[in-house]
Amino acid sequence: MSENNTGDRLLNHDTGGRQTRDGIRIYQTEDFAGMHRAGELAARILDEVAPLVVVGQTTEALDDFIRTRVEEAGATSATIGYKGYQHASCISVNHVVCHGIPGPKTLKDGDILNIDVTVIVDGWFGDTSRMYVAGKLSRKAERLIEVTHDALMRGIEAVRPGNTFGDIGYAIQTFVEANRMSVVRDFCGHGLGRVFHAPPNVLHYGRPGTGPVLEEGMFFTIEPMVNLGRPETKVLADEWTAVTRDKSLSAQFEHSVGVTPDGVDIFTLSPAGMFHPTY
Ligand code: MF3
Ligand code: CO
Ligand code: CO
Repeated sequence: MSENNTGDRLLNHDTGGRQTRDGIRIYQTEDFAGMHRAGELAARILDEVAPLVVVGQTTEALDDFIRTRVEEAGATSATIGYKGYQHASCISVNHVVCHGIPGPKTLKDGDILNIDVTVIVDGWFGDTSRMYVAGKLSRKAERLIEVTHDALMRGIEAVRPGNTFGDIGYAIQTFVEANRMSVVRDFCGHGLGRVFHAPPNVLHYGRPGTGPVLEEGMFFTIEPMVNLGRPETKVLADEWTAVTRDKSLSAQFEHSVGVTPDGVDIFTLSPAGMFHPTY
């Protein structure tokens, strides 16, 4: 996800096509097919890694598998080399909010983790993440995962031409807070398409009717991070790993979507129907 500032706009090397006054690119009908190919590959790799998520496994072994699957598909990892990042995935365990770096630590019974993969297929970016569990899930972690998943889906339900980005954030925030959990403010979703991170910043909180108006042909991610405790985060000395300040558990789900004439097209649906975890 993007840091919640406008700096990433400087990294938008996208050219051509129509852009809105907010700098949001409008893609064409034929571009949806490219996004589906990229999104489906990213989602399939998240399906395939699931059986490897077991107690005793290292997160770098999961990342090795993901990198290999991207290569075997003839695709490119969007994260390797991105701002110096060296891995094909981010793997964020327990109180890690996002951008967890795969490493030699082994998964323990009851650990929850987000695996986030972004691939490039024929120049199109597919970006998705979901939650996994090693061993036996605690009741409170199960509730967190459930609320985070449902918050994303409520955000997606708010995607249609004429609604605003604030409507998406409002749908997510009100649901999360009604469940006495908190929405992370420090990171957000992002436009994507022929680039990884483009305008707008897709906030996971907000007020109805605010922000840019959604138009057919906009492509972006929605990727709420939800904490059991307070929303504040901090980034560790490795300059990537973001954790909850209060050490509370955090969860995240991410889809890449496009705005259609009458609603939304989800590019990163799980081919095996495994996006929502089964415990
Ligand atoms: N996939 C993340 C996102 O949802 C971005 C990861 S960038 C990395 O936008 F460099 F940390 F991998
Ligand atoms: Co993203
Ligand atoms: Co992602």
